[in-house]
Amino acid sequence: MAADARLFALSLRLILGGFYILVILILCINADENWDKDDDPISTVEVSAVLGKSASLPCDIEPTTRGDGVYMVLWFRGNSSKPIYSIDVRGRSFNRALNWSDEMVRPRARFVTVSQPAALILEAIALHDEGIYRCRVDFRKSPTRNFQVNLTVINPPSEIMMYVSLERGYIDTIVGPYQVGKEFGISCEVRGGKPPPIITWFVNGVEVNGRIKENNQNIIVSVLTVPQLRREHLNTTYKCRATNTKLVPPLEKSVVLEVYLKPLSVTIMSKPSILISENTYNLTCEVTGSHPRAKVTWLEGNVEFESGRTINNGNTSVVYSTLEFSPRPEDHGKQLKCRGENPKLNNTSLEDLFHLNVVFPPKVQLEIGNPLNAQNIKEEDDVYFECKVRANPEYHRITWKHNEIILVQNASAGIVMSSQNLVLQKINRENGGNYTCLASNDRGETSSTVVPLRVQFAPVCKTKEVTIIGASIDESVKIRCEVEADPNEVDFVWEFNNSGENFELAPAKFDGNNGTTSEFIYTPMSERDYGALTCWGRNAIGKQKTPCVYQVIPAVKPSPLNNCTIKASVNQSIETLEIECTPGYDGGLRQDFRLEAYEAHTNIIRANVSSIIPEAPIFRIPVADLLPATHFYLIVYAKNAKGRSDVSHLEDIMLRDSGKQTGNN
Ligand SMILES: *[C@@H]1O[C@H](CO)[C@@H](O)[C@H](O)[C@H]1NC(C)=O
Ligand SMILES: *[C@@H]1O[C@H](CO)[C@@H](O)[C@H](O)[C@H]1NC(C)=O
Ligand SMILES: *[C@@H]1O[C@H](CO)[C@@H](O)[C@H](O)[C@H]1NC(C)=O
Ligand SMILES: *[C@@H]1O[C@H](CO)[C@@H](O)[C@H](O)[C@H]1NC(C)=O
Ligand SMILES: *[C@@H]1O[C@H](CO)[C@@H](O)[C@H](O)[C@H]1NC(C)=O
Ligand SMILES: *[C@@H]1O[C@H](CO)[C@@H](O)[C@H](O)[C@H]1NC(C)=O
Ligand SMILES: *[C@@H]1O[C@H](CO)[C@@H](O)[C@H](O)[C@H]1NC(C)=O
Ligand SMILES: *[C@@H]1O[C@H](CO)[C@@H](O)[C@H](O)[C@H]1NC(C)=O
Ligand SMILES: *[C@@H]1O[C@H](CO)[C@@H](O)[C@H](O)[C@H]1NC(C)=O
Ligand SMILES: *[C@@H]1O[C@H](CO)[C@@H](O)[C@H](O)[C@H]1NC(C)=O
Ligand SMILES: *[C@@H]1O[C@H](CO)[C@@H](O)[C@H](O)[C@H]1NC(C)=O
Ligand SMILES: *[C@@H]1O[C@H](CO)[C@@H](O)[C@H](O)[C@H]1NC(C)=O
Repeated sequence: MAADARLFALSLRLILGGFYILVILILCINADENWDKDDDPISTVEVSAVLGKSASLPCDIEPTTRGDGVYMVLWFRGNSSKPIYSIDVRGRSFNRALNWSDEMVRPRARFVTVSQPAALILEAIALHDEGIYRCRVDFRKSPTRNFQVNLTVINPPSEIMMYVSLERGYIDTIVGPYQVGKEFGISCEVRGGKPPPIITWFVNGVEVNGRIKENNQNIIVSVLTVPQLRREHLNTTYKCRATNTKLVPPLEKSVVLEVYLKPLSVTIMSKPSILISENTYNLTCEVTGSHPRAKVTWLEGNVEFESGRTINNGNTSVVYSTLEFSPRPEDHGKQLKCRGENPKLNNTSLEDLFHLNVVFPPKVQLEIGNPLNAQNIKEEDDVYFECKVRANPEYHRITWKHNEIILVQNASAGIVMSSQNLVLQKINRENGGNYTCLASNDRGETSSTVVPLRVQFAPVCKTKEVTIIGASIDESVKIRCEVEADPNEVDFVWEFNNSGENFELAPAKFDGNNGTTSEFIYTPMSERDYGALTCWGRNAIGKQKTPCVYQVIPAVKPSPLNNCTIKASVNQSIETLEIECTPGYDGGLRQDFRLEAYEAHTNIIRANVSSIIPEAPIFRIPVADLLPATHFYLIVYAKNAKGRSDVSHLEDIMLRDSGKQTGNN
């Protein structure tokens, strides 16, 4: 009833103009009375709205009885009796209802009925919009209904930041790096917010409790502490969340923790027990647990290993380093190490190692015993060689070679071999030449380089025999004395001997010395000058032991040739007779050999030839020169400056078409 009266009064106000003031006053008092009476049953709906956004203040306008309908909806602010918004449906359909709002909410307020319940929407909420709102719904038939809404304006927090205790500056996305074992505290600072925001922490997505360290007017700080960092803390995500309403998403900030980790293990994955030199091997080293990625180095002893190629792969937590290398004999017995370290941390390296067992063919080096004297070795000295061998496995044989011929132990010849040494006792010039030693093991045999041995010796005559020289009285003959000697600067002494005399020849008579030869021009003046000329050489090593001897005898005609044989031969379709004889004494002078061929019956000469070489009586006659005659005899003889020897006859030589003929003397 009272509601009806009020509505009536409002209508009057609209209609009656000037008169309304009094009436309203009465009605207002009335209305206040009504509120007080209905106070208790009105429940309050709590509504929150975010600053700047819109608020929806609910007000149920559904009539409880059928056929009823809304007359008017009025909104009040607090306990004011002045409406801030109204809808008047009287006499019109709902969607053509009159609406009105006061200037405080005018552009921002609208009443929506499509929602259940209907609601007053207030846009662009400001802080001063907070407070109690009342809604009064008048129906045509049903009693008036009142609702109360308590609007709270929420201001979300404005800023969220993280920092590490005792460190300057705020963190962006990564915190650290830190080391295992250290304490770690992270703070979350939130600015702004009404009501004060709640701060929650998530470690890898799991909610944990922080500790509020500071809670000022405008700033709240929450701290999370890890007393001792462990390896597992690497990559931990710390998320701080601040919120004071569900209406807008919370403010959040995440950081990832970076922790530097020492390597946990270093392992050379297979350690070959035997390495064959010059073969190629791949050795792989595995380093685990380092963060950031481990640095892997290979070392021989304590020196970086350089004679190989390394390839690194693996992922961030397991690093594989493969060393591809060819072991050398020098590597045998050395330590090969793999070192893994965290490049960012000091003193964190771990190592694995093994000893290289490199098998290789012997390395051989031949040295002459006393190198100081090596240039000055002479006959009668003892010489000592050492064969230096390095081999794995150990060598099992050493072989010595002299001028490519294998030497054998021979104490009587002064050749003595012990384990790695060769001793040559009382050497002579035959011991000079090239020496090598060879050593062998399972991997093969190796020869040393050649070591030449120079044996210096006193002059020795080149020809062992006595040389016979024929000379007539007053004839000058040139006698050449040739010796071998090292060094080859030789001084010569000539002597003359016959049964009665023995004297040195005056230097004036020398034709000259030339290193290892001396030429002497000798002229026997009488029978007494025939005898032995001897020549002695002397060099830095000593005097010649036995002289070269030249027997000067009176020159005579040569002796005849004898023991001749005849052969027929065909050479490139040329038939030839070859006659070979034995020379006789040359009479002390140079001799030439001659052959003459005569036709048997006519004694006509058919051929007259010299020997084919000056030193020996060998003759060749083309058969064509003799034909067409078939019956011959031959004569052969030697001649020198003193004349011709007696001739030797070869009788009854018969030529057949291509037969062989043999004659005799
Ligand atoms: C209206 O409410 C205010 C506080 O909201 C209060 O101080 C005042 O006394 C109230 N007036 C009436 C008439 O109830
Ligand atoms: C309020 O009145 C205005 C015109 O004055 C109209 O455009 C609007 O639709 C009305 N709103 C409601 C909810 O009836
Ligand atoms: C309205 O809400 C505020 C906080 O949300 C509260 O302090 C106040 O007491 C409430 N008022 C009423 C009347 O419920
Ligand atoms: C840490 O996180 C990064 C980025 O997500 C990833 O690449 C890396 O593998 C992670 N490290 C470990 C040890 O889990
Ligand atoms: C070593 O590894 C390299 C690269 O993976 C490969 O090319 C080579 O053939 C390997 N050598 C041996 C001896 O396994
Ligand atoms: C790295 O590689 C190892 C072995 O290849 C594997 O066991 C491990 O799971 C890998 N780790 C990552 C983070 O990929
Ligand atoms: C490592 O040692 C060097 C010199 O000793 C020093 O300068 C550096 O700071 C150290 N680094 C760390 C991570 O300890
Ligand atoms: C690393 O070790 C060396 C000697 O071993 C020492 O002098 C140095 O202080 C150590 N550095 C760190 C960072 O432990
Ligand atoms: C040892 O040397 C002597 C003298 O040179 C020689 O006659 C003998 O044949 C040699 N013995 C061996 C086994 O060669
Ligand atoms: C020794 O070796 C050298 C060069 O290696 C060679 O010229 C010389 O003829 C050799 N001597 C002998 C006696 O084989
Ligand atoms: C020494 O004699 C040899 C052979 O007779 C000759 O070839 C050489 O030219 C001579 N040298 C001198 C310096 O006379
Ligand atoms: C003739 O030669 C034969 C064999 O060639 C030989 O046995 C014989 O002694 C030689 N006669 C003379 C006188 O040289």
